[in-house]
Amino acid sequence: MTGSIDNLLHETRRFAPSEEFQANAVAQAELYDRASEDRPAFWGEQARELLHWHTPFTKTLNWSNPPFAQWFEDGELNVAYNCLDRHVEAGNGDRIALNWEGEPGDSVTFTYAELTAEVKKAANVLLSLGVGRGDRVAIYLPMIPEAVISMLAVARIGAVHSVVFGGFSAESLRARIDDASARLVITADGGWRKGKVSALKPAVDASLTIGGDENPSTVEHVLVVKRGKNDIDWVEGRDLWWHDQIAAADTEHEAQPFPAETPLFILYTSGTTGKPKGILHTSGGYLTQAAFTHKNVFDLHPETDVYWSTADVGWITGHTYVVYGPLANGATQVIYEGTPDSPHGGRWWEIVQKYGVTILYAAPTAIRTFMKLGRQIPDQFDLSSLRLLGSVGEPINPEAWVWYRDVIGHGTTPIVDTWWQTETGAMMISALPGVTTLKPGSAQVPLPGIHIEVLDEQGTPVGKNSGGLLVVAEPWPAMLRGIWGDPDRYVETYWSTFPGKYFAGDGARLDRDGDVWLLGRVDDVMNVSGHRLSTAEIESSLVSHPRVAEAAVVGANDETTGQAVVAFVIVRAETADDDGEADVTVVDATTLGVTALDATTLDALSAELRAHVATQIGAIARPKQVFIVAELPKTRSGKIMRRLLRDVAEGREIGDTTTLADAQVMTVISGTVG
Ligand code: PRX
Repeated sequence: MTGSIDNLLHETRRFAPSEEFQANAVAQAELYDRASEDRPAFWGEQARELLHWHTPFTKTLNWSNPPFAQWFEDGELNVAYNCLDRHVEAGNGDRIALNWEGEPGDSVTFTYAELTAEVKKAANVLLSLGVGRGDRVAIYLPMIPEAVISMLAVARIGAVHSVVFGGFSAESLRARIDDASARLVITADGGWRKGKVSALKPAVDASLTIGGDENPSTVEHVLVVKRGKNDIDWVEGRDLWWHDQIAAADTEHEAQPFPAETPLFILYTSGTTGKPKGILHTSGGYLTQAAFTHKNVFDLHPETDVYWSTADVGWITGHTYVVYGPLANGATQVIYEGTPDSPHGGRWWEIVQKYGVTILYAAPTAIRTFMKLGRQIPDQFDLSSLRLLGSVGEPINPEAWVWYRDVIGHGTTPIVDTWWQTETGAMMISALPGVTTLKPGSAQVPLPGIHIEVLDEQGTPVGKNSGGLLVVAEPWPAMLRGIWGDPDRYVETYWSTFPGKYFAGDGARLDRDGDVWLLGRVDDVMNVSGHRLSTAEIESSLVSHPRVAEAAVVGANDETTGQAVVAFVIVRAETADDDGEADVTVVDATTLGVTALDATTLDALSAELRAHVATQIGAIARPKQVFIVAELPKTRSGKIMRRLLRDVAEGREIGDTTTLADAQVMTVISGTVG
């Protein structure tokens, strides 16, 4: 990240909405007043206004058993019906729902009527495979229309999806399949990434055979979409082609109502331990806040806007702001399969021009990457259709914010910097574009109906002009309902730091106006390109390698990706036994320090360890650098002092080492790395 918080707080540029924008804005200031009068009642109003309820609810919030909330508990709805059929019934069947663009340039369009028809068939396929209400379905797909269709088909029959990002490894996929006991996996042969087909099905095959016959998975069938046309292996009886099943499926399917608290999806995210958490979201409250925020924060005019969120469905942004929010609101959107630079650096801008995108939602890492490439690339395209830009996933530094507005938003578009998390389900802090005077770098204000506080360690609100820990002080409709299969971890992780309040894991500062500036995670969770990674998970992957004795991972500041994964490892020396088999013993730092390994060996080992993490967890977790060191800095009680390692990784002078058990260690480490 560029600039410290002190620099950020000296940021004085302000951007008020234009009169024209203000006059046509969907969200007006009175929303705040209405919400603050009676929060649950406000959300009740939104739920009635934005969604179709088969059975209207009479209760809004039930918080009698905190932290387990229930919203609209006696109401019934069908999430897919809300995203599809009702728009067709309202006469909007011909409106385009999805403009899908493949990486190689192929494209397909689905109107709301067409998408509804596809989802009905897919729902019938799921039913014919024995998937029913409450069953879990793992979805491991590229960004193709079938990803959206599968999610909605699962929702339509009251089953629960667990989308696993295609960049995760076979092992990560299997851990998620096992944790949720998924009965079905929906995947593709492969998808297009960076100019070539990247296979997916082999990872599914590998994941389902991990542990051999002794360790059978819960998966009965694998549905395979043909996209990459790459050769794949086939397990008769288990594997089925999506297109064959869809062609044979019944075309009629009537959406049944389900209670508002019916589980909708599980999405795994990294925490502070090695085991990812299955964040559970349910139906009515989630869809209400997804629709409300999508409409008001993006100032959505569904008849005229063309909305594009660049997120993959494997992340929460792809759930809430590619699938559920936009489709509940009847929006027309673009989805894109590939990477921003394939086949050329202007690919995103070409797509904006081709579809006349009006609202663009992206992550700061992408913006900073484009900034580095230079404005001559976007300048070659007609971006005049854009009228609103959004940012998500990590703090956006003022320089990137202003560049985004000037170069992409032709100096006029508002930018909404939206803070939220997998756990919050939907946006929590953001400007309202027709109301708020924007401050580059600040996410600014809690949305109507959301109660945010910044507390000191004792739990006292810090007040203006101070920093502390960000909490959500009152339940909200899209809040997680728990961690799949682990209610104790849910209570412990989120609700035990400040009893009765949700602790998000982020540090924040209130400026003199009371606006919120996010300062990043205060726990051992890293944020790399807007994606969450756990230091503990990567450390445990590293120590599972036979050459590694100990590992410490830190998120080091990185100009482009926000943070980068940097690992420090102590290796074991290989020695040969009498039996001639290679054996390992821990390197004794005093006699056989890192200097005993020559530079080529060190480089090769670093590369091997980086690849090991990519195979185990997925390419997104691959450390940017692995340093082989003789020792790790520890306190006398044995706790690794990550702060010092971060100093080393960021090339800073090493901070206070007085609590180190052995002050020499840091000299050794910085000598090695430098
Ligand atoms: O640290 C915050 C950061 O991303 C974390 C949530 O990550 P994840 O659950 O993967 O969801 C990302 C997409 C919503 C938060 O704890 N974060 C998210 N949005 C912002 C942000 N940090 C600063 N500014 C934001 N707008």
